[in-house]
Amino acid sequence: MNIKNICCIGAGYVGGPTMAVIAQKCPHIKVTVVDINEARIAAWNAADLSKLPVFEPGLDKIVEEARGRNLFFSTEVDKAIDEADMIFISVNTPTKTYGKGKGMAADLKYIELCARQIARVAKQDKIIVEKSTLPVRTASAIKSILDQTGNHVQFQILSNPEFLAEGTAVADLLHPDRVLIGGDMSPEGEKAIQALVAIYAHWVPKENILTTNVWSSELSKLTANAFLAQRVSSINAMSELCEKTGADIDEVAKAIGMDSRIGPKFLKASVGFGGSCFKKDILNLVYIAKSYGLNAVADYWEQVILMNEHQKQRFSDNIVSTLYNTVSGKKIAFLGWAFKKDTNDTRESAAIKVADNLLSEQAEITVFDPKVVAERIYADLEYLNTRSIAENQKLLKVSNNPYEACENAHAIAVLTEWDEFKTYDWNRIYDRMQKPAFIFDGRGILDKISLETIGFVYYKIGTGD
Ligand code: UDX
Ligand code: UDX
Repeated sequence: MNIKNICCIGAGYVGGPTMAVIAQKCPHIKVTVVDINEARIAAWNAADLSKLPVFEPGLDKIVEEARGRNLFFSTEVDKAIDEADMIFISVNTPTKTYGKGKGMAADLKYIELCARQIARVAKQDKIIVEKSTLPVRTASAIKSILDQTGNHVQFQILSNPEFLAEGTAVADLLHPDRVLIGGDMSPEGEKAIQALVAIYAHWVPKENILTTNVWSSELSKLTANAFLAQRVSSINAMSELCEKTGADIDEVAKAIGMDSRIGPKFLKASVGFGGSCFKKDILNLVYIAKSYGLNAVADYWEQVILMNEHQKQRFSDNIVSTLYNTVSGKKIAFLGWAFKKDTNDTRESAAIKVADNLLSEQAEITVFDPKVVAERIYADLEYLNTRSIAENQKLLKVSNNPYEACENAHAIAVLTEWDEFKTYDWNRIYDRMQKPAFIFDGRGILDKISLETIGFVYYKIGTGD
């Protein structure tokens, strides 16, 4: 089956960059990305490429090359569905906030809406590709909705989970460790799998394209994220022990990472992992395990999240206890708000929880982040509903200049590992701070010796005296 026309429903962090790369690498395929959010589509169509709704290094160049040639962003969902041979579903699957599974299970409302819309519109056979992270066996739910259309259209459902990390999305898409495609084991299923393999084969070596059954593919995505998050929680658990014993977590990470069975990546201690996926996917895994009565499995994975909550809490507790047990009326400068560097995404960012804790202690916070806008920061706090909007705005200010953000501060907290923080004029910052001038480095990126030489009292996650 030769795919000529692709539609992707959902122009978010996953759908946008993924489709841009497919369009760039396959100029013979028309790729239309649709979304119900008009403002988002308008931003994807912005003439000024710095206004794209997703910031990813290198993405603007790819969009510039393909947009208007074979890459289109539109709100005409029905039309794009009708024209497509292959439809990617890339809508969000947030954790349920109501009813059964509240706070744990993935909310499949949007997925189901997409399936119903496809069922209503489709007039010829189509391949449906699940891009969103989904609970195992969602494909069968989608299939049963699609099969009830009465239009006599044949659908094949594939699972093709995304492994891109934000901030490196373009590089991850261009050079993926692997592409995973799960499908039905029937001859028709195999044909659909091969149609998607052929698309990726335009730039990914064949040996890196894995094909499996649908359930293995769906579960592999949850498992990969659970393992990655578990590594961060494991190193963070050791970071607390390092602080008590005088070991240094970076030295420990290096020592264990040189064991080829462990490997060096994903061993950086931090104030806690964030991002839209880790917590949501583990909660989902825990929910699935519980629903099969596998309580030991569920408890094991839940601990990864509990450890992460603990890490954020103890970071803010340490700030309060170090500042003589009160931060009331004291100014604390936050460097970074995004959940990691090189992204404007703040979903589940550790900074949000740390700020909330400190605001509850009546601290006055000033935030500087190179890419996150003030509206986003206030929206993140509002969402927690801990205090009124007016109180949040009174206690927390956002600055677009790091030096101004740090002026008169009692302490600086580093919440995101942006590279530029390392090269600031720390002498200048020190001169204009309250003394003693404290730095709480939640990412372990600054140089302890030079900061202590300047006069700072420097605390780094995972290092004790
Ligand atoms: C989302 C999920 O969070 C993740 O689990 C999955 O792996 C991929 O999709 P992301 O792209 O980061 O990730 O989400 P988001 O940036 O929220 O984008 C989803 C988009 O879908 C939004 O722009 C939303 O407007 C759109 N959408 C949602 C639709 O177009 N139609 C709908 O019915 C629902
Ligand atoms: C993750 C997965 O890596 C990706 O494969 C999947 O498709 C989506 O979820 P992402 O959330 O974008 O990607 O970022 P990632 O680089 O995995 O970082 C997640 C969080 O862990 C960040 O807050 C990061 O700062 C933190 N982290 C990561 C650490 O604290 N230490 C590390 O060593 C690595």
